Amino acid sequence: MPLSKIIAIANQKGGVGKTTTAINLSSALGILEQNVLLIDADPQANATSGLGIISKNIEFSIVNLFRGDTNTDQCILDTHSPNLKIIPGSIKLAEIEINVKNPNLNRLKTSLDSLKDKFDFIIIDCSPSLGYLTLNSFVAADSILIPVQCEFFALDGLRKLLSTIKSVRKSFNTNLNIEGILMTMYDGRVNHNNHIVNELKIHFKDLIFKTIIKRNVSLSEAPSFGTSVFDYKMNSEGSTNYLNLSREIMKNLIPTKQKSLGKKIPQILKETEETILLDPTVKDRDLDNFKTFSINNKNFDKLKGCTKKEVIEHLGMVYNDIHSDVWMYHITDKVSLIKKNYLYIYFDKNKVSHIKLRRFKFSSKLD
Ligand SMILES: Nc1ncnc2c1ncn2[C@@H]1O[C@H](COP(=O)(O)OP(=O)(O)OP(=O)(O)O)[C@@H](O)[C@H]1O
Ligand SMILES: [Mg+2]
Repeated sequence: MPLSKIIAIANQKGGVGKTTTAINLSSALGILEQNVLLIDADPQANATSGLGIISKNIEFSIVNLFRGDTNTDQCILDTHSPNLKIIPGSIKLAEIEINVKNPNLNRLKTSLDSLKDKFDFIIIDCSPSLGYLTLNSFVAADSILIPVQCEFFALDGLRKLLSTIKSVRKSFNTNLNIEGILMTMYDGRVNHNNHIVNELKIHFKDLIFKTIIKRNVSLSEAPSFGTSVFDYKMNSEGSTNYLNLSREIMKNLIPTKQKSLGKKIPQILKETEETILLDPTVKDRDLDNFKTFSINNKNFDKLKGCTKKEVIEHLGMVYNDIHSDVWMYHITDKVSLIKKNYLYIYFDKNKVSHIKLRRFKFSSKLD
């Protein structure tokens, strides 16, 4: 049974990177083989459109959960990202926020209880307010991830947010924790960015994630193509940053999985960089078949024992960042446009240990 964890991404300050984090953290966790459900709890429905789902074509959304007029399972849609499903948002949520007739802060929690054994992670993208919808998310959540933009007014509103979390914890959800404060849109060339990072570290110490999300143009472009940064630009710094964040979160959660997925990032960096840069090319395997990398070529077992460097030589640049111990390649399948095939390559001590071919079929609801 999955060790389900519900994480609400919240900050009542607008435009700090909540939705960008919700989409890309969820996708990154999916790439790392976690079953993930993303919930769009913002009337702007940016997480929904950012994953290429058009709100007006949707029959059921989170609005139905708040109205309590449908079964939770009916609201769940597939996405194009592996292992990631979504409960889409809707502009109609705004009406619920404004006209709450029977306020019930347990509404979302009750709907999500039945899903806890189906997903490893449930990520909630909150709206920039501390109203009814966000409070419902706080009651349903196990923890809150707070994105903070590296700019002068970063601390603005943080005190209010922390005191709201404290009140919810006291009255409605005694288990509520802070997952961490995530610094976003960091630009090392800008002096005051560094100043703010240092200030936050002094104030909040261990609450700050080690991973910092840098300002990266791929992160801002990907939503207009209806995709996560991984489908848009796998080799971007944005992809690397969000994969690192997902590993940091998994490492905190699942100690038993640390060996394969949640190794200490500096350690991985050391291992892989050394091997990739220093290992002489070994060309003693017959890998010619990989010239055309398509679904018709099923003899993936030949990759077993290859180093990361060799895999890149034969299959091209990796979908994940090179430091991951689980790599993923999207395989073209000319026969079917509605199926996506992914090759997962698992490494142990920088050598391919096993390989898995997985297919994801788009839901007809998305066609
Ligand atoms: N690391 C980044 N690098 C570059 N652009 C970014 C980054 N993170 C977010 N952005 C851009 O900044 C803008 C605001 O980001 P986002 O929509 O994620 O914020 P938000 O907190 O969800 O906003 P809202 O409060 O309106 O819901 C978007 O245009 C987004 O593409
Ligand atoms: Mg948003």
